[in-house]
Amino acid sequence: MNKPLKQHLIDPEICIRCYTCEMTCPVEAITHDDNNVVVDAEKCDFCMDCIPVCPTGSIDEWRVVETPYSLDEQFEWDELPAQEEIGEASGVEALDDAMAALLAEAHAGAGGKSKAPASAAKPSVNLYNLGKPATARVTGNYRLTSEESGSDVRHIILDFGAQPFPVLEGQSIGIIPPGTDADGKPHLPRLYSVSSPRDGERPNYNNLSLTVKREEKGLCSNYVCDLKIGDEIKVTGPFGATFLMPEDPAARLLMVCTGTGSAPFRAFTMRRQRSKAGGAGDMTMFFGARTPDSLPYFGPLGKVPEQLLKKHLVFSRQPGQQKEYVQHRMMNEEEALADLLADPKTHIYICGLRGMEQGVEEAFRSISESTGQSWDATRDAMRDEGRYHVETY
Ligand code: A2P
Repeated sequence: MNKPLKQHLIDPEICIRCYTCEMTCPVEAITHDDNNVVVDAEKCDFCMDCIPVCPTGSIDEWRVVETPYSLDEQFEWDELPAQEEIGEASGVEALDDAMAALLAEAHAGAGGKSKAPASAAKPSVNLYNLGKPATARVTGNYRLTSEESGSDVRHIILDFGAQPFPVLEGQSIGIIPPGTDADGKPHLPRLYSVSSPRDGERPNYNNLSLTVKREEKGLCSNYVCDLKIGDEIKVTGPFGATFLMPEDPAARLLMVCTGTGSAPFRAFTMRRQRSKAGGAGDMTMFFGARTPDSLPYFGPLGKVPEQLLKKHLVFSRQPGQQKEYVQHRMMNEEEALADLLADPKTHIYICGLRGMEQGVEEAFRSISESTGQSWDATRDAMRDEGRYHVETY
């Protein structure tokens, strides 16, 4: 009989198919087909390099098995199998200790497994994949930032016609750039966060919007930013089952973002605006950009009433003003944030530049400590309860 071993797996329901793990794995143990991203038990040496880079925590799944699941089995999964009863678990405990130490190291910092809010609606995931993408028609492409700002951020509207494409606020979709890479293989899809609410960019239309920044030499961002009305594009997804908003109208939302990281928060805000729930919990946003004319949706955001959304728009390169980052403003709002951190109805969302994560955590740590609380304990409890969400890139 085989000795039980711990197998590294990826949760296909939560994975957003960004393929970062596959690109990170030094021993090429991670691979994908049209459907799933999977781990080869024969190659995985538990180096844990893939753990901190995963934006969703879907990479962090382990099963004790006597015979490892094959790649073919994993390619077929829509969901992870439950842990099977293993008769003889000898040796597994020792393995667990070593693994726990490795995992603790990989999880240092904010990374880690995230959970959907308890009251979130159930998202549809992976309806369209590489082998069977949806076709969307471009019905809008507007520049959101000024020419002078030097930053080209676009509001892109995609219509899915008669194809079902249900998305919830906070989910992402993949766009497949046309053509092939240097090896002649089709390009992998690039992920974009949806910036419209579930009932469509236009209410009750089968459309959605994206907020896309043109990156110098960015293969897909240039393709998307240059799309013309009427163009057809190939789309995968929807993806994402954790960075979702609570349905509970009394939930309080604290949203921290930079640049295009604001996309899901536009969706959250529009959802709350359109559902007009009575007795709604408040929403607070800290949004960092270089200047007002490079802050996506600066104009429309200004029209959202402060009772619905408390806005802290923070600028780092405004002439004549001191450089300010979101975490600096958070420190100035210590009292309001301490109140939010202490409230079990509060949900925290962080989205944007990876570099911001550390500064934002430090601000939370300092605010927690000022009220005698441990930030690590607060954050871990919030994450366990599906109230702490980070998506940085
Ligand atoms: P900076 O002026 O220092 O680049 P971008 O325009 O590149 O998408 O960035 C959005 C905003 O995030 C900018 O104001 C940028 O400031 C800011 N930013 C850059 N690094 C960090 C960081 N480590 N923490 C918080 N904000 C940051």
